[in-house]
Amino acid sequence: MPTVEIDGKRIEVEDGVTVIVAAERAGIEIPHYCWHPGLSIAGNCRMCLVEIEKAPKLQIACNARVTDGMVVHTQSEKTQAAQKAVLEFLLINHPIDCPICDQAGECKLQEYYMDYDRQQSRVPLSGKVHKAKSLPIGPHIMLDQERCVLCSRCIRFLDEVTKTHELAFYERGDHNVLALAPGQTLDNPYSTNVADICPVGALTNRDFRFRARVWYLERTESLCTGCANGCNIEIYHREGRIFRYMPRFNPEVNQYWMCDAGRMTAYGLQGEGRLLRPLVRGGDAFAVADWTAALAGVGDRLSSLSRAQGRGTIGIIVSARASNEEVFLLRGLATSLAATIAGISWSPPDADHDDLLIKADKNPNTQGLALQDVPLDRTADELLAAASAGTLQALVLCRTDLTAWRDAATVRAALEQVPYVVVLDTDQHETEEYGSVVLPIGTHAEGDGTFTNHAGRVQRFRRAVALPGEAREGWAVLGDLFGRLAGEPAPASAEMVFAALAAEGRAFRDLSYEQLGDQGAAAGSRS
Ligand code: SF4
Ligand code: SF4
Ligand code: FES
Repeated sequence: MPTVEIDGKRIEVEDGVTVIVAAERAGIEIPHYCWHPGLSIAGNCRMCLVEIEKAPKLQIACNARVTDGMVVHTQSEKTQAAQKAVLEFLLINHPIDCPICDQAGECKLQEYYMDYDRQQSRVPLSGKVHKAKSLPIGPHIMLDQERCVLCSRCIRFLDEVTKTHELAFYERGDHNVLALAPGQTLDNPYSTNVADICPVGALTNRDFRFRARVWYLERTESLCTGCANGCNIEIYHREGRIFRYMPRFNPEVNQYWMCDAGRMTAYGLQGEGRLLRPLVRGGDAFAVADWTAALAGVGDRLSSLSRAQGRGTIGIIVSARASNEEVFLLRGLATSLAATIAGISWSPPDADHDDLLIKADKNPNTQGLALQDVPLDRTADELLAAASAGTLQALVLCRTDLTAWRDAATVRAALEQVPYVVVLDTDQHETEEYGSVVLPIGTHAEGDGTFTNHAGRVQRFRRAVALPGEAREGWAVLGDLFGRLAGEPAPASAEMVFAALAAEGRAFRDLSYEQLGDQGAAAGSRS
């Protein structure tokens, strides 16, 4: 393997590695605009010029491959002069709108100016070439042509990743502009990624722009729940409010990207329909209850029904939106109550999917149910039939609106026959109307847990924002209930629940939160 020396640091890398990547591994930043690790090399911005001993001229680090014994200087006099020259050139026609630009805080032009340039322009302001501003070029993207540094990242993304070719460069010289190809709009399912990779404020996300300055936002590692792919994301939030999802690199799952539909699911998490307090039905109306009374009531009623009526009179239905931890605890409840447990993995019949990331299964944890041997759909249908026949005495519903899954009239008629219905959910929907007790639980952004994606990869999500009202995490509510029924202490954390799941020794054996880390790990086989 070749060894290269960069700014006095020696590093061994594999054959074919570029100088920019070798430097990154050595912890040395080489400024760059056009290079992106998920795209082909364009080599057009020249911001990454470095001095390589024995080379006659400065070389671009993004396209120079290391050779054994190579010596690179990223901060030499010649390199610094080149960096200043490139920045001065890029800024000649750049508009002076940094104070009102929504990319501030994430703009490589601003950052590199401060880090590598800091010189007055020699071109008068009046001499700037003006181009179009604030052009909506698709449902999610706004283009400001003046701010574009012509790096071609967006064009390469649309040529190489989505292969939809909506953007191109037109005109020549200082009139060179990025624009839509004739007759096109930028509305492919992955369009917002171009705003993520644009190094300046030329392409911005219409759903996020001017909603918050990024330096005020906190970031929490999480997962998208829009489909079974389980794309890795960061949730950007502030004071309990979620502002956006951004893709997080995971080479096994989503590379650098995510789809627009998944990104939009961030905005549905904190709607007005959230359930905020435990509710217990008294006659025709619900009354607000405290958690202790509500859970004690549910525990007593379910255990006395189980004792009096025997096996098969209690049903539990959990959707594939529940976490692995919640499913594990529901299985425990099913065992101690001699109840029948069933899973639902519902997606619209014409759900979109493709070969890139988007899966037709719009649930984040169908595999999690399957790997815990929770029977899907058919058993839930059988429970619904038992309810219709009047043989079901109690039904526990976790993260599932049955009226959205099967014919609503049939579901209503069935639920009316069940004397005791316990609903655990995040949002109000029709099934709650048939609840005897409604228990508000959090979304994946409000708690800890894991999902198993379509390929069997177990991945963690973490609490980003506080739970609304008096809602609690799903695992905590179920752990409390399970503890009451089993006469055991309730688990103190989602991690403890996962450890118990792993200790079962089946598909989750040998896994732990620590081992899952921020990239997840493959579940084993079921046996
Ligand atoms: S719009 Fe952004 S990503 Fe596209 S070429 Fe211009 S600077 Fe590069
Ligand atoms: S592909 Fe699926 S998991 Fe990935 S961002 Fe889109 S909806 Fe979310
Ligand atoms: S990053 Fe190397 S030329 Fe642009």
